Amino acid sequence: MYSEKVMEHFINPRNVGEIENADGIGEVGNPRCGDIMKMYLKIEDGVIVDAKFKTFGCGSAIASSSMATELIKGKTIEEAMKVTNKAVAEALDGLPPVKMHCSVLAEQAIKSALKDYAEKNNIHIEGLEDFEPVDPHDH
Ligand code: FES
Repeated sequence: MYSEKVMEHFINPRNVGEIENADGIGEVGNPRCGDIMKMYLKIEDGVIVDAKFKTFGCGSAIASSSMATELIKGKTIEEAMKVTNKAVAEALDGLPPVKMHCSVLAEQAIKSALKDYAEKNNIHIEGLEDFEPVDPHDH
């Protein structure tokens, strides 16, 4: 059911933890399953130099957040904005259809952290205008 990569990132997730004085922090949740993902970004000169996460959730959500942090590290904000949940799932060699929503959480966590960064620094990030993450506390 799960690819080797999913299992590998679940058992040995990369970039778990918090970043002290993170430049952007995002927190999203899926109201249906109750899983929560928190993402921390360190951003220098428009480049994501570090990313860490804490996920209270299923194995696919943990694997997705691990892969998402790997994918965005070293990328510019614009490039990170293009990391969709599909890209995360593909990088994991696929997720079962019923688990695709877990990768959505990872995409939302990235965007939510970037939105926090944009708001703190009063900058505009293309594509975040209409972004409304699912509020984990709203249910
Ligand atoms: Fe909820 Fe995977 S089951 S994020």
